Amino acid sequence: MSSEYPVATTQLIVTKTDLAGYIVHANDVFCEISGYHKEELIGEDHNIVRHPDMPHIVFRLLWSKLLDGQEVYAFVKNMRKDGRYYWVFANVKPTTDKYGEINGFISVRKAANRNGVAQIDRIYKRLTSLELPGKLGQAAVKLKELLESKTIKYNDFAQRLQKGEQFI
Ligand SMILES: Cc1cc2nc3c(=O)[nH]c(=O)nc-3n(C[C@H](O)[C@H](O)[C@H](O)COP(=O)(O)O)c2cc1C
Repeated sequence: MSSEYPVATTQLIVTKTDLAGYIVHANDVFCEISGYHKEELIGEDHNIVRHPDMPHIVFRLLWSKLLDGQEVYAFVKNMRKDGRYYWVFANVKPTTDKYGEINGFISVRKAANRNGVAQIDRIYKRLTSLELPGKLGQAAVKLKELLESKTIKYNDFAQRLQKGEQFI
């Protein structure tokens, strides 16, 4: 069992990617938290920090919203270069060029609310248990059911968890 790497409440963790999700910018805080040097990150697929505990359905949803021009709020468990994990609350959105065309994406993250982490960790465990190798399995249905039972949209759910609200 690996241990958690702490994120300070004052830290803003920023990366930018191209349209395909390859990292084009990482701030110094991202480098410190992820444990990678900037040169190791630029040009790499953003899944370089992917943690296996993260459900595929969350990233499926993230990409579908982003490619539709929408922003996304999500709790993300990431893995450092040394194997330790860290939780963040992320706001990911498209960036546009001077003609208004989407030319990439930016993620600004901060320390995740601990009560939110406790709840989302349980939900993510349930979702990953429903996924099959390379397939979403019943996870998409389960997430939809959960949100419908709370009559809430994904982004609002994440933002309210970050505010410390109790859902489960
Ligand atoms: C701007 C931006 C930031 C991202 N940040 C992360 C991140 O911090 N951690 C992560 O696992 N995936 C992040 N992703 C999603 C990855 O591109 C990828 O979809 C995810 O890691 C799942 O990878 P996989 O499909 O290889 O399993 C980000 C994507 C974008 C566009």
